Amino acid sequence: MKKHVKDLEVKGKRVLVRCDFNVPLKNGEIRDDNRIVSALPTIKELISKGAKVILMSHLGKIDFKKTPEEIEAAKAKNNMAPIAARLGELLEKEVKFCEVTRGPKLEEMVASLNEGDVLVIQNTRYEKGESKNDPEVTAIWANLADAFVMDAFGSAHRAHSSTYGVPEALKKEGKPTAIGYLVEKEVKSLGRVITVEKEDRPYIAILGGLKVSDKIKVIDSLLKKCDKIIICGAMSYTFNKALGHTTGTSPVEDDQLEYATNCLNEANGRIILPVDVVVADDFDDPKLIQSIESTDIPEGMMGMDIGPKTRKLFEKEIKDAKTIFWNGPAGVFEKEEYQAGTVAICKAIADNKGCFSVIGGGDSAAACKQFGYISSFSHVSTGGGASLEMIENDGHLPGIDIIEDK
Ligand code: 3PG
Repeated sequence: MKKHVKDLEVKGKRVLVRCDFNVPLKNGEIRDDNRIVSALPTIKELISKGAKVILMSHLGKIDFKKTPEEIEAAKAKNNMAPIAARLGELLEKEVKFCEVTRGPKLEEMVASLNEGDVLVIQNTRYEKGESKNDPEVTAIWANLADAFVMDAFGSAHRAHSSTYGVPEALKKEGKPTAIGYLVEKEVKSLGRVITVEKEDRPYIAILGGLKVSDKIKVIDSLLKKCDKIIICGAMSYTFNKALGHTTGTSPVEDDQLEYATNCLNEANGRIILPVDVVVADDFDDPKLIQSIESTDIPEGMMGMDIGPKTRKLFEKEIKDAKTIFWNGPAGVFEKEEYQAGTVAICKAIADNKGCFSVIGGGDSAAACKQFGYISSFSHVSTGGGASLEMIENDGHLPGIDIIEDK
């Protein structure tokens, strides 16, 4: 069992907390603050215990192979200032912001913190070495802290300086490391879709989204854990083509056909594919939209959503399930014409009141929020990539494994 933030003696100590404040921004405005809200229990606990709270997170991506101008533009776009401001509103207290990731300004700001103060440091990805777990960057941040708390579940699959190097360095110095409340909650809930007892079955996974190649490891892992896997969204067309069906202009990964064939054989009837599909003649400007059998998508037509027979088929499977894990929408839910499949999945899970249901972050979490079903799920993970990797690795993620045990 991992040491927890509530086990730490932190009064007057500098506690560095890795959060995942990688929130969607548009023109510097936060479009969804869920990840900031989810970090509050840990931050509030540390404030109330009189810690000097130093928060760090990445935001977006900065590609250091680009030109200096492009790098500067990416930095400006992914500046953490709006996050610090929003956190201040949520905490209803002053949150200091340091616009750099190293140097005298940062050291001064940390040194002048009082008990209960909160400081947000600039985007960790301003440092080129962050994603490489560079020892120099690691040492700079580790020197700021008397203790480390990992509460960035969404980034726990990254062995970067801020998620892995810093706790590793502090442990070597005999300084405490712990998980926060968000990581605790995620680990507990995802644990229930990793090890599933007989009384919690049938266990069904629903996988959608674009690419089979992104999901191979998780499909292989879930085949060992689940009773059935529903495959929908764009990735289902690769499976349909592997079965010899025509797929029109639907997205298909031809280099994954062999994998899909082997997977279907291994699953021995436990993979459920759409039987009908909503197709359109154009992605952006369709003149023709219709539901047809998924065996026969004609030339020039593209699959956009599951059809009505498939919705019924999936609803029946979901109704009987006692445990459900869902990652990836059934169709192009951003467009009204193709929402029905994803809405049907949301509704069917919401109607199955007795089941334990987990959404693995990403687009399916955004969809269930958009359609008003967020509170109907047992757990909506804040990490898309992290929750999939946690399942693939049977409960292990580098950013959590590195934290000391009790
Ligand atoms: C996410 O949004 O999935 C996490 O914050 C991780 O972001 P990353 O894929 O850029 O590392």
